[in-house]
Amino acid sequence: MQAVAKQVPLADGPLAILEDITLAIAPGERVAIVGESGSGKTTLLSLLAGLDLPSRGEVWLDGVAIHATDEDTRAALRARAVGFVFQNFQLMPMLSALDNVALPLELRGEDGAEAARALLAQVGLGARLRHLPRQLSGGEQQRVAIARAFVTRPRILFADEPTGNLDRRTGQAVEDLLFALDAERRTTLVLVTHDERLAARCDRVLRLDAGRLVA
Ligand SMILES: Nc1ncnc2c1ncn2[C@@H]1O[C@H](COP(=O)(O)OP(=O)(O)OP(=O)(O)O)[C@@H](O)[C@H]1O
Ligand SMILES: [Mg+2]
Repeated sequence: MQAVAKQVPLADGPLAILEDITLAIAPGERVAIVGESGSGKTTLLSLLAGLDLPSRGEVWLDGVAIHATDEDTRAALRARAVGFVFQNFQLMPMLSALDNVALPLELRGEDGAEAARALLAQVGLGARLRHLPRQLSGGEQQRVAIARAFVTRPRILFADEPTGNLDRRTGQAVEDLLFALDAERRTTLVLVTHDERLAARCDRVLRLDAGRLVA
C-alpha cells in the first residue's frame, strides 16, 4: 500500500479518514492494527482486503493493483486469496452455521459441506451445525465467522476485532484458535484489535492515530 488516502464526501466537505499510509505486509507475516475507536482501523482493513477503494494512492493485493481494477476482478481476487472476519460477523441470517461456512465454497461451485463440518468441529461447534445465527451466542457466531473465513484456505486472512465482543476466556479460546489455524495453514494474518496482549502475539504492530500510521 503506497501513499494511500481515504476520504468520504460529506455535506460540509470531504472528511479525511486515512492519510498518507504506506506499508507492506510480507507473505506469512502476522500483523496487528491497533488504535483508538474511530482512528480508521476498519477502513484500513477494508482497503487492504480489496473491499473498498482508496481515494488516492495504490493498493496491491496478492500481486493485483486493487486501485486500478473493477469490482468483478476484485471479487474474483477475494474469492481466490482472501478470508475476512467482519467486526459484526455478517453471517447470513437464514442459513445454518453449516451452510454459512460452506457458502464460500458453494459459490465457487464446489461442495462445501464436508470442509464446513470439519472446520466447525475444529472450532468446537460440531453440535451446533443446524443452528441459525440468531440461535447462537455471540462467541459462537464469532467462531462460525472464523470457520467461514478459513474454509477456502485463503493465503491472506483479515480479521476485524475477532475477540472484541467476547469475555476473557472465550476471547482467549477464539484467539488461540485463530493462531492455531493460521500456523497450520501458513496464512498471512492481518488483524485489528484493542487487546495489546493479542497484538503482542503478532510479528508486528501497526498503530493508527486519527487516520495516520504512528511509529
Ligand atoms: N462511510 C463513511 N462515511 C462517513 N464517515 C465514515 C465512513 N466510514 C468511516 N467513517 C468515519 O471514519 C472514522 C474511522 O472509522 P473506522 O470504522 O475505520 O474506525 P475504527 O478504527 O475501526 O473504529 P472502531 O474501533 O470503533 O471499530 C470514524 O470516525 C468514522 O465515523
Ligand atoms: Mg472498526
